[in-house]
Amino acid sequence: MKEGHLPPICSKRIRTLCQMGLIVVSLIPLVVKDVFADVPTSGGASRPQILFVKNMQGNEMIENTNLYETIFKRKSVREYDLTPLDGHTLAEIMAHMSALKPMYDDIKIEMKLVSQKDVKGLLLAKAPHYLVVFSETKDGYLTNVGFMLQQMDLFLSANGIGSCWQGMPKPTKEILNSSKLEFVILLAFGKPKERLHRESVSEFQRKPLGEITDIKGADELLEPARLAPSAMNRQQWFFTGNANTIHAYRANSSFLTAFMFEKMSKISMGIAICHLWIAAKHFGKEVEFICDKEAQNNAPAGHDYVVTIKIK
Ligand SMILES: Cc1cc2nc3c(=O)[nH]c(=O)nc-3n(C[C@H](O)[C@H](O)[C@H](O)COP(=O)(O)O)c2cc1C
Repeated sequence: MKEGHLPPICSKRIRTLCQMGLIVVSLIPLVVKDVFADVPTSGGASRPQILFVKNMQGNEMIENTNLYETIFKRKSVREYDLTPLDGHTLAEIMAHMSALKPMYDDIKIEMKLVSQKDVKGLLLAKAPHYLVVFSETKDGYLTNVGFMLQQMDLFLSANGIGSCWQGMPKPTKEILNSSKLEFVILLAFGKPKERLHRESVSEFQRKPLGEITDIKGADELLEPARLAPSAMNRQQWFFTGNANTIHAYRANSSFLTAFMFEKMSKISMGIAICHLWIAAKHFGKEVEFICDKEAQNNAPAGHDYVVTIKIK
């Protein structure tokens, strides 16, 4: 992340905002022709910008943004040094929000940075910071949140910061009431007090590739999807089609568990699709997300159609 210069008053303001522990960033939706949109490699002129952190001066920058490599070593971090990250690092993280690409760019998203006193719930990973994600509740919004926030999960991991998706905990009422959008999920993050990365792919506890796809000749895209994190590691995804047209499906939860897993599995689908998309970009391919009616009407038994990923 290369930055330029801004008058000192601006960096002072950034520090003050970070110390307040609550920076709110609205990612303004872009108007597109239809729901399914191409995801460009770099932000265009219309991409939302966070101007007050865009041009900070003088400090160390978070440079390492190799998300593709990080896919093969990331892991959930649940033990944190509770000392808050410095204001500059927090500002960099907030600035990175404007670089997150949506899957559906007509869905309004809001992310807030909060501290531990602002979150509660069972199985909360105690961390110095949390990102709270809110969204408009349009078709595909949960998958869209998974797709976007996984880019942040990888960005943090690539930069030596641990993180963990938090499906169970919730923000306090005050934080919930601070947005007009629906609360979706939290991401805990901070300086790790446990190992940040896996040493090899064999450490991932994941289904074999043959269980999550029947596509031949696209392992370089599907292996990264296989390694994606999912709620309770359920890996409810299945990919079929061919190397150029990949249909993504989500395994249905049983009647009894649907109320618990439906929402989380939709978010998890977005995460796996994010890994696939990052891999495609890494190999120089363009990606388009479309709705393929035939694939939608011919879902494998026990699965729901999510999206078709065109690789060009
Ligand atoms: C949508 C979602 C919700 C999750 N919720 C929790 C949670 O509430 N608590 C937790 O400790 N881990 C949670 N996780 C982390 C998963 O348990 C973890 O990603 C999975 O077991 C795979 O392990 P890994 O991330 O280390 O590869 C969640 C992950 C996802 C994707």
